[in-house]
Amino acid sequence: MKYKLADRVERIQPSFTLQMATVAAEMKSKGIDVINFSVGEPDFNTPSHIIDAGKEAMDKGYTKYTAGPGMIEFREAICEKLERENGIVYKKDNILVSNGEKQSLSTACQALFEKGDKVIVFKPYWVSFPEFIRLADAEPLLINTISEKNFEPDFEDLMSKNLDDVKGLILNSPSNPTGGIWSADALIKLLQMAKEKKWVVISDECYERLVYEGEFISTEKINRDHEINATVLTCLSLSKTYAMTGWRIGYSAGPVKIIKAMSKIQGQATSCANSIGQKAGIKALQGNQECVTVMRAAFKKRRNLIVSLLNNLPGIICAMPGGAFYAFPNFSEYLGRTANGKLLKDTFDISGYILESAKVVTVPGDGFGAPGHIRFSYATDSKTIKEGIDRVRLALKNII
Ligand SMILES: Cc1ncc(COP(=O)(O)O)c(C=O)c1O
Repeated sequence: MKYKLADRVERIQPSFTLQMATVAAEMKSKGIDVINFSVGEPDFNTPSHIIDAGKEAMDKGYTKYTAGPGMIEFREAICEKLERENGIVYKKDNILVSNGEKQSLSTACQALFEKGDKVIVFKPYWVSFPEFIRLADAEPLLINTISEKNFEPDFEDLMSKNLDDVKGLILNSPSNPTGGIWSADALIKLLQMAKEKKWVVISDECYERLVYEGEFISTEKINRDHEINATVLTCLSLSKTYAMTGWRIGYSAGPVKIIKAMSKIQGQATSCANSIGQKAGIKALQGNQECVTVMRAAFKKRRNLIVSLLNNLPGIICAMPGGAFYAFPNFSEYLGRTANGKLLKDTFDISGYILESAKVVTVPGDGFGAPGHIRFSYATDSKTIKEGIDRVRLALKNII
């Protein structure tokens, strides 16, 4: 071999959820009648007024590089949105626009963490969090959550750990993969610890508008209302709220020092976020929000349907998720049993068996640090949900 790849390639895992989506796409392309519960994006198209704004942007010549941190008018629209919807006042210098929130989060880790640092991640976690941290040469410190309490942090587990080298934490509420929403009390406790220990709190709030009961409250709003004064970086996305996953527009809001540092890194990595997406993003944030209400109502209906169908499966327990579009049932009952002569030792095996025998794609919880659970995305129509869960029921019957 003439060359060697950098060690960091070995250090990280490929995006596991993207792999499952690829499996589903390949099966479909072979003409297999597959049902896909692995998708992490709304099945709706981007609302037409936002698409029109994108077309208009191209017609009017917004096809060039923009200011590195994002178009001024987009950052101002973001500030208005944050004040109106989240009750947090920021100026445009507190905002950095990125090519999707994934880039925001990854750049934040690059700007804040380095070799020798530990960063707290709560299990079950979104698959990319530990990898963002490893790419920054730091180390994730995994902390348990309590499934009976909406997967809120297990503070006993947190306190039992050596926290000496911890520099920050990443939280995600509503959560991918659990759909759990943390209470204000849990966030206050965590923010107080963060303040005391000088941890930077990265709050991933990409599912903020997909909350089915009650009101969503931003971590930074709680931080300010309770005068805790922890350092919080809020990361947000247009992907899930406006069905804009392919437009790649996300943003961060936080202290100018962090935003400037991230902007410096991002400027060298990618110059700026996509100009057409930024123009469409202005329309998304300033335009009619009815589309968000309509999509949320559809997701809520599907959530109620899939959770009730899953709970009707023998041996399966599924908590009612408060937000996002994922159900996260517990399949532990089937661990250690056999299907088609093969031992089901973990959820990779159970998901693999369901895929093989029922042609239903799910995401094994072991990939999210949650053995026993399997993630079902309900970003798909009710008919598909019914048929998919029916197929799972038949597959489970053959597990002995
Ligand atoms: C928890 C979480 N955070 C961030 C993202 C990234 O969203 P995007 O890069 O599309 O803005 C996703 C996408 O699946 C997610 O599930």
